[in-house]
Amino acid sequence: MKSPNNDNILTLDNLSISFGGIKAVDGLSLKVNENEIFSIIGPNGAGKTTVFNIISGFYKPDSGTVEFKGRNLVNHKPHEIARFGVGRTFQNLELFSRMTVLENLLIAKHLYVKTRFWEELLKTKNVKVEEARAEDEAYAILNYLGLEQYAHIPISEFPFPIQKRIELARALSLKPELLILDEPAGGLNMVETEELSTIIQRIRDDYNLTVLLVEHDMSMVMNISDRITVLQYGKEIADGKPEEIQNNPMVIEAYLGKGAMHA
Ligand SMILES: Nc1ncnc2c1ncn2[C@@H]1O[C@H](COP(=O)(O)OP(=O)(O)OP(=O)(O)O)[C@@H](O)[C@H]1O
Ligand SMILES: [Mg+2]
Repeated sequence: MKSPNNDNILTLDNLSISFGGIKAVDGLSLKVNENEIFSIIGPNGAGKTTVFNIISGFYKPDSGTVEFKGRNLVNHKPHEIARFGVGRTFQNLELFSRMTVLENLLIAKHLYVKTRFWEELLKTKNVKVEEARAEDEAYAILNYLGLEQYAHIPISEFPFPIQKRIELARALSLKPELLILDEPAGGLNMVETEELSTIIQRIRDDYNLTVLLVEHDMSMVMNISDRITVLQYGKEIADGKPEEIQNNPMVIEAYLGKGAMHA
């Protein structure tokens, strides 16, 4: 397994956003290094998904900056941010349920990797070559995640755990350098969660990318994270390696009555 190097790929600086007077994210700063698996944990409503929505351009922060590979992402649109190399999955799946698995991967590319309008219309050789390549790439990812046999089946036919894996495939198909996963183990059983932990580590290594993870499954977080930041009421209350987080009294306090911290 590759060890993370110390080059920053993502820096959040003093990020804040309020909704109707409630500070969902409150002065959050953090740095994620290239090739890390970096997790953000915290109780329900702590602001984790909101942070992801800011990074990926769905929300504009009231203040602060999001720097990805030296570029401030604030004020960029989600499709631009995807094109810069930030891919994500959603806490509630965002797939086109009547389309097939392959179509979902290809449409993601279409939405994010724009071809020129006239070329598209005339179906010039370039576009056909491009489309064939996109399809080959999509199949390669489906193959990698063991989904190739499902390529031509509509999303709605699959149980939730398979749909989650398809969403991961879709995010990967955009060739991200930073992969943002919002509760990828939500709704999965223990065996599926362990399998997913292995897959996330393999993806990090095989695709040479950085993973930013939000997850409530503590055994998964503690097993695969290089570093962890803990949020409560939109503020960071701790950060460190898994063993430091597990033994931090403030973190244990934040989680009291919300399930065990220990993996
Ligand atoms: N679009 C929005 N409009 C109003 N309030 C919002 C919006 N998005 C988030 N919030 C509020 O911001 C706070 C943080 O929500 P967020 O979804 O980021 O929490 P979370 O840490 O992801 O929680 P969970 O673990 O339950 O997914 C909550 O109080 C939530 O109600
Ligand atoms: Mg959330």
